Amino acid sequence: MSRDRRRGPRESRRLPRWSEIAPLLASAPRDRDPVRRRLARAHDIEDLREMARRRTPRSVFDYVDGGAETESTRRRNASAFDDVEFLPQVLRDVSRVDPGTTILGRPVSMPFVFAPTGFTRMVQHEGEAAVARVAEREGVPYALSTMGTISPEDLAAAAPGADRWFQLYVWRDRAASRRLLERAAAAGFTTLVVTVDVAVPGARLRDLRSGMTIPPTLTLRTLAGIARRPRWWIDVVTHEPLRFAALEEAGGGFAEVVDGVMDPGVDFGDLEWMREHWSGDIVVKGVLHPRDARTVVDCGVQAVAVSNHGGRQLDRAASTLAALPEVRAAVGTDAEVYLDGGVRSGTDLAAALAHGADAVLVGRPYLYGLMAGGEQGVSRVHDLYRQGFLRALALLGVTSVGELGPHLLRCPPAHGPRVTTPVE
Ligand SMILES: Cc1cc2nc3c(=O)[nH]c(=O)nc-3n(C[C@H](O)[C@H](O)[C@H](O)COP(=O)(O)O)c2cc1C
Repeated sequence: MSRDRRRGPRESRRLPRWSEIAPLLASAPRDRDPVRRRLARAHDIEDLREMARRRTPRSVFDYVDGGAETESTRRRNASAFDDVEFLPQVLRDVSRVDPGTTILGRPVSMPFVFAPTGFTRMVQHEGEAAVARVAEREGVPYALSTMGTISPEDLAAAAPGADRWFQLYVWRDRAASRRLLERAAAAGFTTLVVTVDVAVPGARLRDLRSGMTIPPTLTLRTLAGIARRPRWWIDVVTHEPLRFAALEEAGGGFAEVVDGVMDPGVDFGDLEWMREHWSGDIVVKGVLHPRDARTVVDCGVQAVAVSNHGGRQLDRAASTLAALPEVRAAVGTDAEVYLDGGVRSGTDLAAALAHGADAVLVGRPYLYGLMAGGEQGVSRVHDLYRQGFLRALALLGVTSVGELGPHLLRCPPAHGPRVTTPVE
C-alpha cells in the first residue's frame, strides 16, 4: 500500500468565513434573573443540595441534611432505591402519559406531597408559605408541621387554593392539642397527619455537635458562621422573628422542645380521640411494622405513611422501601399507603409506586430547593420530580399511575402485591 493511500484522500483546508463561525458562537440569551440562572444549572436534587450547602450556615444545613446517630437509616432509605431493578416494557404507545391520580379522593397532578418539616423559615426566610404556594400552583398537597414557623391561619391566607394538611404531634396538654385541631379545621385544612415516631427525640449528633438551637442563638461559633454566610443572617434578622407559630414558649434544641411539649404516653387509644375531634381525613405517619399499620387502619384512619422520619429518629430502623410491601399487604385496599424517605427523583417515585405506595412524601429535597433559591428553588424541585416521573413512566412503557406495579420489577417483593391490575 502506498504511503498516500494509507493517509486517505488529501483533505483540503481553507480559512473559515465569519458568517460560518458566528452561528456557532451565538449562545442562548442570558437570563437576567440570577436565581433562575443558578437554578437552571441544577439537574438533580444532589445539585440543589450542593447549592444549598454553599449558601447556608453549616449548622443550619446539617439540621436539614442530618439523621440520627450513625445516620445508617438515612443512608439506607436512599440506597434501597439504588438497588431497585426495573424490567421496562417496550413497544407500548407512550405518546400520551398522565402522571395524575387522586389522593384521599381529591385529584392531584402527580402522587407527590410536600412533607411536614419543622422550622422551615430558619432554613430560608420565605419558608412554609413559599412551599405551600408551589403546592397550590402545581396541584399537590402541602403538610404544615406542628413545629411550623407560620400559623395555620397565615398559611391558609398565603395559599388559599392549596390542599393543606396539618401535621400534629400530640402534646402533653390535650386541651392545647384540641385547640390546635380546631384552628386547623377552621382554617380549611383538609387532612390531619398524626406523626407517631417521635415518642422521644432521636439523637441528631450533627445538631448536638454544632450546638444548633431553635431559634439560632449568637455564640462564638455562630458569629464565625455569620462571617462565612452573611446573606443568610441578614435575611434572618430583617424578617419576622423566628418562632414556633403553634407552640408559644417553646425553644432550645430539638430534644428540649420534644421533651417539654410532646407526650411519650400517646397510644392507639389517642387515635380514637382524634377521630372524635377531627372530621376530615387522618393520615398516621411514621409506621414501619405491618401489624401496627393494620391496627391504625382498624382505628378508622384513611391512610398510613410508611416513614422513619427520614432516618432522624431510630437509627438502624428499616429503610422505608424495604418495609413498604408488607405494610401494603397488611392494609390491602382498606386505606391508602404512602412512603417517605430517600425519594430523590421521579424514577424513585415510580419505584415506590411499583412497590405498593399510592403516593410519596418528600422532605429534605424541597428544603434544599428553598435554600438554593427560595420559592423558585422549590418550583425547580417540583419540576425535576415531575419531568423525571413522566420520563420514568414512558420508559417503563406505561401511560398512567395505575399501571405501575411489581410486574415492572426484576425482583418483585415477596409480600404485598399492589392493589392494581397490571395492564398487559
Ligand atoms: C428538617 C426536617 C424537619 C422535619 N420536621 C418534621 C416535623 O415537624 N414533623 C414531621 O412529621 N416530620 C418532620 N420531618 C420528617 C419529614 O416529614 C419526612 O418524614 C422526611 O423528611 C422524609 O425523608 P426525606 O427527607 O428523605 O424525603 C422533618 C424532616 C426534616 C428533614
